[in-house]
Amino acid sequence: MTWKDGFFITFEGIDGSGKSTQARLLAEVLDKQGLATVLTREPGGSPGAEEIRALLVEGDPARWSPETEILLFTAARRDHLEKTILPSLAAGKTVISDRFADSTRVYQGVARADLRPMVDQLHSLMIGREPDLTFIIDMDPEHALRRGLARNSGEDRFEEFGLAFQQNLRAGFRALATEQKDRCVLIDGDRPIELVAADIAHRASRVHK
Ligand code: TMP
Repeated sequence: MTWKDGFFITFEGIDGSGKSTQARLLAEVLDKQGLATVLTREPGGSPGAEEIRALLVEGDPARWSPETEILLFTAARRDHLEKTILPSLAAGKTVISDRFADSTRVYQGVARADLRPMVDQLHSLMIGREPDLTFIIDMDPEHALRRGLARNSGEDRFEEFGLAFQQNLRAGFRALATEQKDRCVLIDGDRPIELVAADIAHRASRVHK
């Protein structure tokens, strides 16, 4: 596959890891290089999925069981895939998504509960698509959580689970980077934003054919 056929890049990491900023900065770099780039996010990225997002990221941490979360995130992802990701890739665009299926594998499959087999089954039934390249931003959970909660965005349902939860997430993402090393690149996020961005742009350019 060349980038002319459409290339699918995702960013993953714990809450407050800076991945949204890095996704935006990479989109700017690729745009400047003349690639048609679509920057999108999960949960969300299509009108229907954005409606589901509000149910998931706001309110009482205990409002959904891990199993119900898997269903809601997968429903949002299916709509995002149908309406935004697949049509953009078919049009030859580069799609950059701030989170995708790896978040469900780690948040719902490892940190919220030990449900990875259920996550995998639903993924193969309803999604069946992996990114071509995934950047996992790895960083100190204490630092990330301070940054995330300081934003006071009203979208902090998962941050409210606390530090131990974020530490489990970090371990889950690191394990996933090893498990799926063909497409996953672990990035040291405990560095200044510009250095992290330059590292990511360099690594992305190495797979650019
Ligand atoms: P965001 O803060 O990166 O926009 O993501 C929203 C929250 O949803 C974040 O705390 C991570 C969580 N999340 C999951 O738990 N499972 C998922 O599949 C996705 C996409 C996000």
